[in-house]
Amino acid sequence: MQIFPRTLNLLPLVAALALAVGGGVVTFVVAYYFSPWNTQVGYAPTQPVPFSHRLHAGQLGMDCRYCHANVERSYEAMVPPTQTCMGCHAALHTDPSDPDQATRAALQPLFDSWAHDEPVQWVRVHNIPDHAYFEHSVHLSAGVGCVSCHGRIDQMEVVRQDQPLSMAWCLDCHRNPEPNLRPVSEVTNMGWERPEDTDPAEYAETLVENGQRYVIPPENCGGCHR
Ligand code: HEC
Ligand code: HEC
Ligand code: HEC
Ligand code: HEC
Ligand code: HEC
Repeated sequence: MQIFPRTLNLLPLVAALALAVGGGVVTFVVAYYFSPWNTQVGYAPTQPVPFSHRLHAGQLGMDCRYCHANVERSYEAMVPPTQTCMGCHAALHTDPSDPDQATRAALQPLFDSWAHDEPVQWVRVHNIPDHAYFEHSVHLSAGVGCVSCHGRIDQMEVVRQDQPLSMAWCLDCHRNPEPNLRPVSEVTNMGWERPEDTDPAEYAETLVENGQRYVIPPENCGGCHR
């Protein structure tokens, strides 16, 4: 004897469909409602030392890794200790009667930090909440350049947040990473551009042919909320 009508056999299918649609809606609501596009873009706090990326990374042409040395190996990029700066500044404008008093004054807090063995209290610019997991090294070894997430740091007198760092922003690239991929050797090259008239997807394929890893960034919740 049949207790339930035959149409109920469709129930698992209907339930699965409802879940899929519902899941999609949840993703949409969370990503686009809770995580607005423009959070914090433009945030540029004043720093205790008027350090200029435009001068050091731009005009002097220093590679990012000279100061952010662990960025390729670690989840954090880290701001350098005073010692890194003193490699040069121990021999620049240190004399109190230096003719360029303006530059000397700009450097004074750095000299104080060195003399008193106290780290400079840099103000943090970029921050994502602890419940989201972010790691630098995996992005750099996939061929995503600093400029994709931080903008033209080499042209900034004061570091300013260039991208929203929201969940929608992360997912936007994770769903379509190709336009942001470049040779791993160029990740710190701020001016690098994909050769003209190349399709991002085709270019990404040539990167893989040249030995770069094929990338599949996580889109599932557990990928970033661990
Ligand atoms: C001479 C050392 C030096 C070099 C070279 C350098 N940086 Fe920095 N960077 C610093 C210091 C010091 C800070 C902290 C002060 C500030 O925010 O300006 C910093 C801060 C940053 C921040 C903001 C960190 C935060 O608090 O969120 C980013 C992003 C950054 N650097 C990226 C880069 C990139 C990209 C390059 C290469 C184009 C680069 N840096 C080259 C020393 C350096
Ligand atoms: C590779 C050498 C080198 C390193 C390393 C370096 N600097 Fe400089 N820095 C320079 C030079 C060169 C100047 C220009 C000096 C001048 O104008 O006479 C300069 C200028 C400055 C000035 C003065 C800017 C102004 O307003 O005139 C500050 C402040 C400064 N650096 C901070 C830092 C800090 C902080 C670090 C470490 C995170 C650092 N520098 C690391 C070479 C370096
Ligand atoms: C895929 C995007 C992305 C790329 C590529 C990227 N960053 Fe970041 N960066 C971030 C995010 C997001 C944060 C904030 C991390 C947090 O709050 O935990 C950050 C933070 C930083 C900080 C602050 C200190 C820290 O480690 O949290 C520095 C310095 C920095 N980045 C430098 C760099 C440099 C230099 C490069 C290139 C060599 C680079 N970043 C490439 C997204 C990126
Ligand atoms: C510009 C593109 C881009 C942006 C923006 C970006 N990612 Fe990624 N992400 C990638 C690529 C490419 C990979 C590498 C995937 C692979 O290796 O298969 C990746 C990988 C990851 C991974 C996997 C790490 C692992 O251990 O496998 C995590 C977690 C991650 N991203 C988190 C984030 C978060 C959080 C944000 C936003 C704050 C973010 N990403 C922004 C491109 C991006
Ligand atoms: C690519 C990385 C990534 C993936 C995948 C991801 N998230 Fe997020 N999520 C983030 C980041 C980064 C933030 C913090 C955004 C901010 O501070 O604006 C966040 C924030 C959130 C928040 C808090 C919203 C708030 O207002 O702070 C919730 C809830 C959330 N995510 C749920 C989810 C769910 C559910 C999924 C799966 C459908 C998911 N996330 C997938 C990166 C991710």
